[in-house]
Amino acid sequence: MNPSKTALEIVHHLPPHYLERTLREDVRAGLSKPAKTLPPKWFYDQRGSELFEQITQLQEYFPTRAERSILEDHAWEMAAASPAETLIELGSGSSRKTPLLLDALKDAGDLRSYVAVDVSDSALTEANSGLSRAYPDLILQAVAADFESQLQLLPKDGRRMVAFLGGTIGNLEPDPRAQFLTQVRELLGQEGGSLLLGTGLVQPPEILIPAYDDPSGVTADFNRNVLRVLNAELGADFDVEAFEHVAVWNAAKEWIEMRLRATRAMQVQVPGAGLEISFDWGEDLRTEISAKFRREGIVAELEAARLTVVGQWTDADERYAMTLAEPS
Ligand code: AVJ
Repeated sequence: MNPSKTALEIVHHLPPHYLERTLREDVRAGLSKPAKTLPPKWFYDQRGSELFEQITQLQEYFPTRAERSILEDHAWEMAAASPAETLIELGSGSSRKTPLLLDALKDAGDLRSYVAVDVSDSALTEANSGLSRAYPDLILQAVAADFESQLQLLPKDGRRMVAFLGGTIGNLEPDPRAQFLTQVRELLGQEGGSLLLGTGLVQPPEILIPAYDDPSGVTADFNRNVLRVLNAELGADFDVEAFEHVAVWNAAKEWIEMRLRATRAMQVQVPGAGLEISFDWGEDLRTEISAKFRREGIVAELEAARLTVVGQWTDADERYAMTLAEPS
């Protein structure tokens, strides 16, 4: 196999101008209602992706380290339970933990290809160029796509493991989450394959809040970055520093909410979305939910999507779970 041919191919499954259009729609829908919201996927331009990488290094941010330790201890069991020819990773970002899975899948069977799926071109390019050097025999594909609406475009042949790591599924509210899991189930079809799902577990607020509101302010900077994206992409005139980062544990819904709180009353122009919006003093804009789960709850949500759990692993502190499921 010619390694130079296998690497770095980015397949664009997003229609032209898809990102610009959905950003505009998301901004219109989210900022013109009384309780303002923005979807978290807009954090991740190049600067946002770099800030998230910094978050993963923080002492307070447990998910990345916990997930890595689970993979270090148990990836071989996951691979043995569900050997795959193709690993499809949704929301792959930097693909930094992926080698742990690739190595285990190579040992367990006949892994042939890796498909990275992300909305961020810059993350895809960087991740796959690193992997192509380490895995010259693997067919690497990078698919620029939105995992919420474009799963049907992914490869449907061979035995596939779909990995959705990092706890990113927690960004979805329960209804879209159920729909998403049903779509993954459809993608896996009848002839085997599996879903490997990473989820943060419910923890005391003393653990959760600092993970989303670190004293060094990296998460605050990451949160405000969505306003910079709106300024750059839609010509908005947000005074980014006039918003305060807030992280709240919603105990009823069992999710962290990140918000940006206006520190004064403001008018903001968003010409690219044809909007003029006003903020009251102290008004919140919700930028992310990050749901935390209980082990039984994960099993139940997967069952509801006709996926049967074949294995579940946690880290030593029980802060994070990885669950392997197969079509029922
Ligand atoms: C990348 C979605 C998994 O929800 O924990 C980190 C994003 N937000 N700190 C998460 C995030 C604030 C992260 N995910």
